[in-house]
Amino acid sequence: MTERPYQHSPACNTEDFVAALSLAANGVAIVTTDGAAGKSGLTVSSMVSVCAEPALMLACVHSKNEFCDMADANGAFAINLLGEDQQTISNVFAGFGEDPTLDRFTVGTWTTRDTRSPILDNALVSLDCALEESKTHGTHRIYIGRVLSVETCNKTPLVYSQRGYVSLA
Ligand SMILES: Cc1cc2nc3c(=O)[nH]c(=O)nc-3n(C[C@H](O)[C@H](O)[C@H](O)COP(=O)(O)O)c2cc1C
Repeated sequence: MTERPYQHSPACNTEDFVAALSLAANGVAIVTTDGAAGKSGLTVSSMVSVCAEPALMLACVHSKNEFCDMADANGAFAINLLGEDQQTISNVFAGFGEDPTLDRFTVGTWTTRDTRSPILDNALVSLDCALEESKTHGTHRIYIGRVLSVETCNKTPLVYSQRGYVSLA
């Protein structure tokens, strides 16, 4: 097999990389899973659509997060993109609350659709996904899901940039 060019070039400095990427503006979502392996959810900004035909979504989760083993075994996850009125729930699912024993799913109203993955009422966009593939790269695990159903709510998105929430207004 031909060696890729630059394969052995040193990677860029981690601090510079993190600082540079903090300048980007990203939407915020809560990814969730539920099933025989258990229920879990966390706040992410690393979600994006892969393609429309078929409808595929991608999200990256730190491989040490309990979500990973559960989503892999449950074979499903949901992506709940948040509106600007949902900053509190973003903080709860990012673990910013003072009570580490809090059941995060007691905050907000949750339902399910095609899979058992929790779907947040009044999310900007909620996508229920069947797990298509997951793969670890570096510290994170990449999840690709085939979208089974999508729902939207007419509201302004929650945006995260420069290590804080920013208003689109
Ligand atoms: C705006 C925002 C975006 C985040 N994006 C990600 C992400 O894309 N992937 C990830 O693994 N963690 C991300 N996090 C961090 C996780 O939400 C956080 O580490 C996690 O909820 C901690 O979960 P635990 O307490 O269950 O370990 C983000 C946090 C915030 C506030």
